Amino acid sequence: MKLKDIISALDLTREDYEKIFEDADRFRKNGITSKLLERKIIATAFFEPSTRTMLSFHAAAVKLGASVIGFSGTEGISVMKGENLADTIRMLNSYSDLIVIRHKYDGAALFAAEVSLVPVINAGDGKHEHPTQALIDLYTVREVFNTIDNLTFGLFGDLKYARTINSLLRALTRFKPKRVYLISPPQLKVRREVLEDINYPVYEKEYLNEIINELDVLYVTRIQRERFPDEIEYQKVKESYRVTKEILKDMKKNSIILHPLPRVNEIDREVDKDPRAKYFLQSSLGVPVRMALLYNILG
Ligand code: NCD
Repeated sequence: MKLKDIISALDLTREDYEKIFEDADRFRKNGITSKLLERKIIATAFFEPSTRTMLSFHAAAVKLGASVIGFSGTEGISVMKGENLADTIRMLNSYSDLIVIRHKYDGAALFAAEVSLVPVINAGDGKHEHPTQALIDLYTVREVFNTIDNLTFGLFGDLKYARTINSLLRALTRFKPKRVYLISPPQLKVRREVLEDINYPVYEKEYLNEIINELDVLYVTRIQRERFPDEIEYQKVKESYRVTKEILKDMKKNSIILHPLPRVNEIDREVDKDPRAKYFLQSSLGVPVRMALLYNILG
């Protein structure tokens, strides 16, 4: 397999997902991989803040023997002087073999890929997509359940502005979920254009306690405050949902709770001690999954 740009979770087939997961397994098992991408240069162009995504791409590249160049934020680079995205990408083309981009605008990653001569990975573009997070999410599900098919998912929280939700819903089209519940306040429902892309039925709910006992995977997102067009709209929904120890009493023993992180206050700190809370495991799997992705594009 040789992959090129990864802009949407739909850019991968089921076989691609499985190959990446198997390679991630392998990278976790045999530590030494340091020559696979020797002499390759990965550029990380992060126009928007990031902790996990950028650092795990860095770690993944270094573990494969690649070098990393890049920037985080627009302070200190020529965007501040008015350079446009196309020119920045063209410049990175002559310095690197692959570009990982994060940007506040929907569509910026696709635009970059259209301009770029080297492969582009979308590390989050506005409220559109974050496909490498969906890879990590499904890899974590597979790690715990040994399968991704035939499970009941509950996606909970800000489903309107969270790009991780859009990518996860699209990634699930490559599998056979038993049931997918979308649980959110009415103002934060999944956008129609995302629903149009999926090939399985979804069930919208307002309250988690209606269906929590059915779930195998509870996937929680924070309210994406920075994406609200209007602060007043944000004020209306802030703190409108929360996962507590109380509510988890009805959840199955062998179910799991995921969250792409960062968490604000939508999951109580107390829940971290619950054995079903797998969000720190999930974030630790970011490195092997991103290694496998880089390897399948550049290896
Ligand atoms: C997510 C993102 O940037 O969309 N973060 C991440 O990459 N793990 C989720 C979020 O910011 O809420």
